[in-house]
Amino acid sequence: MVQSINAFVKRKQISKRIHTIFFGMDRDYEIETIQESDIKELIEQNCAIFPHLGKYINDDLKSNDPDCTYFVLKHKGRPVGNIGLTKFGKDYEIIGMNAEDWVLGYFQIQPLHRGKGFGTLLMNKVEELARSKGIDKLWIDTTDRPQEAVAYKLYTKFGYAFNSSHSLPDFDYVIHILVKELK
Ligand SMILES: CC(C)(COP(=O)(O)OP(=O)(O)OC[C@H]1O[C@@H](n2cnc3c(N)ncnc32)[C@H](O)[C@@H]1OP(=O)(O)O)[C@@H](O)C(=O)NCCC(=O)NCCS
Repeated sequence: MVQSINAFVKRKQISKRIHTIFFGMDRDYEIETIQESDIKELIEQNCAIFPHLGKYINDDLKSNDPDCTYFVLKHKGRPVGNIGLTKFGKDYEIIGMNAEDWVLGYFQIQPLHRGKGFGTLLMNKVEELARSKGIDKLWIDTTDRPQEAVAYKLYTKFGYAFNSSHSLPDFDYVIHILVKELK
């Protein structure tokens, strides 16, 4: 069952990519900072994609911290993806990261909307915000979970370079850290 759903989603993504090549970008979208009314749906989407972050997602997406900015991408008015610009914070000191350094986080596009260029738009948006804040170095933490392989490829395409890998005792995945100097 799961395999046939995955095959269906993959076929949909391929046909969207072909559609995009021949007919251009789907323009029926907007990117805005996250609104109160989007949070419930986005928390559900992010919990499904990042179950290992379950205990943080709720607090992070609802955060009023001025150092946290989350963008939502809406398709026909409905949230279908998000990205964030935050600081590592104290939790990351355990793997040697500086709590004050800026990191791209909570990046996802819903499966049926992938491969249409929306992820690229969100990456551009977050880098634009980082530059406007005078941030000269942007970090990313990702994992070796197979479902994040596409993201890793996208990051390298954007010029992020591998920095380090970290295994933690209570986690069954490896954290990869990447970094880019923003010009
Ligand atoms: C990473 C993610 C946000 C990209 O979103 P997206 O909207 O599909 O991205 P884009 O359409 O802009 O595609 C960007 C690149 O991803 C790659 N890509 C997209 N869909 C792909 C697919 N189905 N298979 C392989 N590569 C794919 C392509 O290399 C594409 O680059 P191209 O322009 O050279 O073709 C999305 O795949 C996702 O939500 N993944 C799961 C969550 C995740 O891993 N988040 C990051 C955690 S660190």
